[in-house]
Amino acid sequence: MKKNIDNEKKIKKIYNRLWSDTNRIHRNDDNLVLGWHLGFYEKGIKNQKEAMINMNNFVGKLLGLNSENLMKILDAGCGVGATSIHLANKYPDITFIGITLAPNEIELAEKLQKEKNVENTKFLQRSFFDTGFPNEYFDCVFALESVSCTKNKKKFLNEMYKILKPGGKIVIIDFFRKHDSFNSFVKNMRYNFLRELEFPLGDVSINTFKLYNDIEGFKNINIYNLLTTGNVKYLHLYGFIISSIFKNSYANIQTQFKDNIKDKTIINFFRMKCAFFIKFVLECVLLLIAKPGYYSITAVKNEI
Ligand SMILES: C[S@@+](CC[C@H](N)C(=O)[O-])C[C@H]1O[C@@H](n2cnc3c(N)ncnc32)[C@H](O)[C@@H]1O
Repeated sequence: MKKNIDNEKKIKKIYNRLWSDTNRIHRNDDNLVLGWHLGFYEKGIKNQKEAMINMNNFVGKLLGLNSENLMKILDAGCGVGATSIHLANKYPDITFIGITLAPNEIELAEKLQKEKNVENTKFLQRSFFDTGFPNEYFDCVFALESVSCTKNKKKFLNEMYKILKPGGKIVIIDFFRKHDSFNSFVKNMRYNFLRELEFPLGDVSINTFKLYNDIEGFKNINIYNLLTTGNVKYLHLYGFIISSIFKNSYANIQTQFKDNIKDKTIINFFRMKCAFFIKFVLECVLLLIAKPGYYSITAVKNEI
């Protein structure tokens, strides 16, 4: 329980910091706002911005959205709400509720929603472990690259199961390790030496995660490896993860220097830079060893 709360505090801090600078919002030429995910590269997709929009549409497709059904959808770990706002624009009769831990993200999501004149979205600061929604409240839930932020993936699935209506669908798109085996040396390095590692990327394999879905009672579990069904290249995958680690570690080290180091001499600044560089290289090496893949998982809550 305490571990979850500590992890949530860290995540909240990271995303508040990431979105403290509104220039970080990715926008394409149509001034369309994009979130913070890898995107979905299919044939004909030329760049990351197109891939990100394509991912939003892919989420809609996996959820089985159409304009005829009135639905309530949860965006679990919504970031600045880009996917919900995109889909809400396309399906005005569907209500999208996004939850995240970071107030800065909510502030931006609300700003973007106004900017786009979208009225069928709502953003709340809540945890996906304990959402506070009534049981069987949502028709569908989706989580785009948010499950990888948490080590307690079973607890996440348990809460999602509770708030889904019978027959409701869950869609998860995220990074998972391909294989179960994990060398104990690497494990020790990840969990003991790099105690600060905030993103437990690849801490479980896709097979273990499938098993968790099964245990929590989900049926019709379908898994697609987006590296083979789509056109995502390892270059995109590793480029995206490594640049995210870089941006996050760099922002982290700058905040630490500003907040925790009293003696702001050049030597101390240089020391911090060295520490950042070593940690960054180590995280990248551990990432390569963990061999993450990029998957979509869809499953359905049993209809009784
Ligand atoms: C990589 S971002 C993805 C954001 C968004 N889905 C997108 O694609 O742009 C991960 C998001 O998960 C959220 N998150 C992580 N742990 C969470 C938790 N326990 N409860 C709610 N949101 C959480 C973070 O605050 C962040 O917004």
